[in-house]
Amino acid sequence: MDSGRPHERSTAFDRMLTPVHRWIWSDAERRVQKLLRFGETETDGGRDILRAAEVTSDPLLRRLYLEHAIDEFRHGVLFRDRAAALLSVDRSRSNQGFQGEWLAPGGHGLDDLRVDGESDHTMLAFLHLSEKAAASRFAVYHNVMQHDPPTRAIFEGILHDETFHMNYTLTQLTRVAPQRHRRHLWRARLSRLWKTYLRLATALAGILGSILLTIQYFILLPPFAWLAKRAERRELSGWTPVSPESSGSLDEQY
Ligand SMILES: [Fe+2]
Ligand SMILES: [Fe+2]
Repeated sequence: MDSGRPHERSTAFDRMLTPVHRWIWSDAERRVQKLLRFGETETDGGRDILRAAEVTSDPLLRRLYLEHAIDEFRHGVLFRDRAAALLSVDRSRSNQGFQGEWLAPGGHGLDDLRVDGESDHTMLAFLHLSEKAAASRFAVYHNVMQHDPPTRAIFEGILHDETFHMNYTLTQLTRVAPQRHRRHLWRARLSRLWKTYLRLATALAGILGSILLTIQYFILLPPFAWLAKRAERRELSGWTPVSPESSGSLDEQY
């Protein structure tokens, strides 16, 4: 789908994280992992939007959702094909470590989408914000991908589509809810904010959990290890004679 409109500018937050994104995308293996994950997210998003096309009763929205779903499936294929091409070029290097997933998540956040039970306006508000976020991030990824022109070209093309998705969802939201579209957008914004908080809190909890377990390992375990070693030293090795008093008759139970 071609928007013919200028691209969305990145948000200040995404621009602030540009050095982090540059570092994440600089490694070939990390790039492959991220492209594969992006491919998965785009395809899953396309599947959900296809479901949205099935459940909406609005004929125009159904047509737009279908075209949108086709775009997302195509993005998924583009990301996967690029990951496969990078893999075939360089199989020797490996860096499975930090992927910065919570800093550079896979595009849309469409993974949070629950289609069934959503009305057209809540669906459009959610889609608009997701596409806006995707356009902002893809603009940054496009900027930091100077060292990899083929991947950069893919982001360029996809960014164009995401900008169209962002614009058509807002236009349609204004059409289906002319009086209340701003309220729907704010509600969707708060919902995204809450989900972002949960994602960050989960990541932070994981980091704190690792730190606490490491501290426990090095501070709490050594005294127990020392006590166990001391007890072991006091134990006599081999068979030891038992005093007659403590060895009762074998004819009785006690
Ligand atoms: Fe997409
Ligand atoms: Fe999109």
